[in-house]
Amino acid sequence: MATILRTLSYQYQWLYDTISGVAAISVGGEARFHQLPLQGLKIHSETKVLDVCCGSGQATQYLVQYSQDVTGLDVSLLSLQRAQRNVPQAKYVEALAEEMPFLDNQFDLVHTSVALHEMKPAVLREIVKQVYRVLKPGGVFALVDFHKPTNLLFWPGLSLFLWLFETQTAWQLLETNLAGVIEEIGFEVFKHQLYAGGSLQVIQARK
Ligand SMILES: C[S@@+](CC[C@H](N)C(=O)[O-])C[C@H]1O[C@@H](n2cnc3c(N)ncnc32)[C@H](O)[C@@H]1O
Repeated sequence: MATILRTLSYQYQWLYDTISGVAAISVGGEARFHQLPLQGLKIHSETKVLDVCCGSGQATQYLVQYSQDVTGLDVSLLSLQRAQRNVPQAKYVEALAEEMPFLDNQFDLVHTSVALHEMKPAVLREIVKQVYRVLKPGGVFALVDFHKPTNLLFWPGLSLFLWLFETQTAWQLLETNLAGVIEEIGFEVFKHQLYAGGSLQVIQARK
């Protein structure tokens, strides 16, 4: 379940960004939040990057600081129009992440930020398979998303957030071994780090 705030936050970008900004305080702010999945990766101007479920370009804006070859993919045309305005340095593709319209072995880095929790388990698996397919051998999948808190003090805040803004799929992700799913598809997970009392996870995995 979710409340009207979820609908409103997707309707009004300023509301989405304000909520994300407040939530990101738990890890030191929005800029740090978006750097977390990129930490330790070698990204240069020629690195071919795909930002899956890019929304209005919230994370894309950081990816274009490293690479001149960034593509954002999202199913929402409205979000893509906003992304095009907010981060014109990237290219954008309107598509389902589980049906990516790219050839095999195209990207060096596939990134996704707080989006997999919106997927039903079967769709989530399909997206990870697609990410594997479109990555070059040796390419990296990097993501940040929710995780079941390991520190009990973080449960009330996360529960309130999920209740206000998220649906059943976010609660399902808390019960999912996401790194395990990624490994089952064939990736080698080389980083799995928890933040904000365990309520956020960063995964980096190599094809
Ligand atoms: C919570 S937003 C995350 C946006 C952005 N990555 C960020 O860091 O704030 C989730 C995004 O996933 C997109 N989305 C949801 N299901 C999708 C799917 N099956 N394929 C592609 N995009 C999808 C939504 O349109 C939305 O823009």
